[in-house]
Amino acid sequence: MSPFDLQYYPAQMNVLGIETSCDETGVAVYSTERGLVADALHSQVDLHAMYGGVVPEIASRDHIRCLLPLVEQVLGDAGIDRPDAIAYTAGPGLVGALMVGSGLANGLGLAWGCPVVPVHHMEGHLLAPMLEDDPPQYPFLALLVSGGHSMLIRVGGLGDYHVLGTTLDDAVGEAFDKTAILLGLGYPGGPALAALAEEGDDAAFALPRPMLNRPGLDFSFSGLKTAVMLLVRKAKDEGSLAERRADIAASFQRAAVDTLVGRALQAAKREDLERIVVAGGVGANKLLRKEIAERFDGQVYYPRMAYCTDNGAMIAVAGALRLADAHQVAEIRAQARWSLDTLSPPGN
Ligand code: KG4
Ligand code: ZN
Repeated sequence: MSPFDLQYYPAQMNVLGIETSCDETGVAVYSTERGLVADALHSQVDLHAMYGGVVPEIASRDHIRCLLPLVEQVLGDAGIDRPDAIAYTAGPGLVGALMVGSGLANGLGLAWGCPVVPVHHMEGHLLAPMLEDDPPQYPFLALLVSGGHSMLIRVGGLGDYHVLGTTLDDAVGEAFDKTAILLGLGYPGGPALAALAEEGDDAAFALPRPMLNRPGLDFSFSGLKTAVMLLVRKAKDEGSLAERRADIAASFQRAAVDTLVGRALQAAKREDLERIVVAGGVGANKLLRKEIAERFDGQVYYPRMAYCTDNGAMIAVAGALRLADAHQVAEIRAQARWSLDTLSPPGN
């Protein structure tokens, strides 16, 4: 079944998607008839690794360097001279980085005379499973887990988002990244920590499952982070860190995943939802994907691994679904903060 509402599509539309909110330059073309037709990504990970995190100024400069060549590349791959519409990430994210995508999208829109759609980055993540052959039907519960967010959202339809729970402190991806740094794994640590955890015993250390026994649906990861920090300090003092690293990584990953899955199951039950979408960078975590599929009675949907982390394809498909929001007049938007709760259905 197509996720599209045909009223917006008098004809087939090729939508160019541009993502520059953080440290990946992502560009893609999504056809409302043929699906994803071209996709390219440039990761800045190597540029930021030596600083242990994303340096905003470096991110903006690298987007400037890479964006236009990537646009030319995907248009070539899609076999088109120009798209019918352009979607870009307007926030939330690093303002300088967002400005690069926003500026180019609006400039190209003016030059080509085509409509431009501003897209919310987290809505892009949330809609990424719409790129798959078997997209979820509404309503569903979305577990959005990335470097900047940990959220549970009741999704009633496109643009109908009710945030049920959010993190009170660190996002879960941030907790993965900080734990990875403590274990000497560098940046970005999530994938490296998950790989190390596969070699360890996840029952080696009893770490807290924060908030699970508290009412409400919020998350908190700072207590878990502190517990790992104390563990690492103790292992260092005892000279045993090298041999305990994998066990610490596995115990941390198990505690973080138990917390996410536990809260998601509570939310699905409370809201009486039969479908869960897991999206965002941490959605690439294999243990999370396995656990939620095993423990949830209903259907679980994920984007493929490559579309869990930041990419242009999710912005292109979100833009295609939001064509009713397109504007013809240049309107450069770049919002560092932007709550998903404030979105409304397309055309409103
Ligand atoms: O969605 P994303 O690419 O960027 C943001 O919008 O933040 O998410 C990046 C986050 C990072 O914190 C990264 O460490 C984490 O996702 N991540 C993972 C895995 N792959 C990426 N965390 C745990 N396990 C993974 N396999
Ligand atoms: Zn993201």
